[in-house]
Amino acid sequence: MKSIHDTYTLSGGLQIPCLGFGTFNPNGEDNGKLIQSAIDAGYRYFDTASIYGTERALGQAIKVSGLAREKFFIASKVWIDEMGYAETKQAFARTLDRLQTDYLDLYLIHWPRRTEGDTDWKEVDRETWRAMEELYAEGKIKGIGLSNFLPHHLDNILENCKVRPIVNQLEVHPGYSQEAVTAYCKSKNICVQAWSPLGRSNVLQHPILRDMAAKYQKSVAQLCLRFLLQKQIIPLVKASSLERMKENMDIFDFEISAEDISILEYMPQDMWQKEHPDFAIPKAKSNFEQ
Ligand SMILES: NC(=O)c1ccc[n+]([C@@H]2O[C@H](COP(=O)([O-])OP(=O)(O)OC[C@H]3O[C@@H](n4cnc5c(N)ncnc54)[C@H](OP(=O)(O)O)[C@@H]3O)[C@@H](O)[C@H]2O)c1
Repeated sequence: MKSIHDTYTLSGGLQIPCLGFGTFNPNGEDNGKLIQSAIDAGYRYFDTASIYGTERALGQAIKVSGLAREKFFIASKVWIDEMGYAETKQAFARTLDRLQTDYLDLYLIHWPRRTEGDTDWKEVDRETWRAMEELYAEGKIKGIGLSNFLPHHLDNILENCKVRPIVNQLEVHPGYSQEAVTAYCKSKNICVQAWSPLGRSNVLQHPILRDMAAKYQKSVAQLCLRFLLQKQIIPLVKASSLERMKENMDIFDFEISAEDISILEYMPQDMWQKEHPDFAIPKAKSNFEQ
């Protein structure tokens, strides 16, 4: 990989850029301006979700850019209160409407369970997947995948699907490298993507990371993103300023040694966001009116 425009070929043949821009924006900056800056910086892969409230701003920013829709790679996700066969079809229609497009490059199930006590999650996941398979067969989505699925959630899909998931989006960064589930995905030919690749900035002051980044004459953010790139995990990174957006793209001119990759994989695993697909599921409701 030599730039953020280089792609991996996923099972099924879909070309996916090796780094994307995340549009989850908890700081409340103007979504339109943020995404327009990211387009100006050069990002073309945008990760959104119905729950983020950024689909409409993303669709508008793409329109304003004057660039053809095909120049972009757009991924969105079905939220936990939109799951089920009919509900997913409706959620997908709303997502397309907000994005002002007639297809998605990638559509994901956001979380495998709706609540911690969800007893029918297996059936709900299968029905949600069945709707996504049909949308894929109709050509409305180029690739379908999952997010926050651990091996027992993945098996439920893999054992019952007609179309196999091509990606699984997980929290992955130094200090939470999720080696077991990422290895499982690799064994099933499922590409791993990293959400919060900078640990939502929690990891940036860590002394191990600061010392290692200084050794490579790079920032800690660049070290985290390069770590993922070398593991063939696609980082989805959010930043607010043009300067940081560009910094996060500038990761193709150095190589982390195998020993340092191992240190980053196995440093203390205590820097996660405390969201868990079985035991700590986010509670927010989708905002269908956005
Ligand atoms: N599938 C899921 O369940 C899930 C969950 C969470 C997130 N996501 C996706 O993953 C994307 C990224 O995750 P995230 O936003 O939680 O975390 P992140 O990308 O790891 O971190 C973003 C934070 O890092 C800061 N930052 C960015 N670049 C920096 C740099 N070069 N130097 C210093 N600080 C920097 C940002 O600050 P400023 O904004 O102030 O620049 C922001 O506070 C989301 O936008 C979303 O698309 C998916």
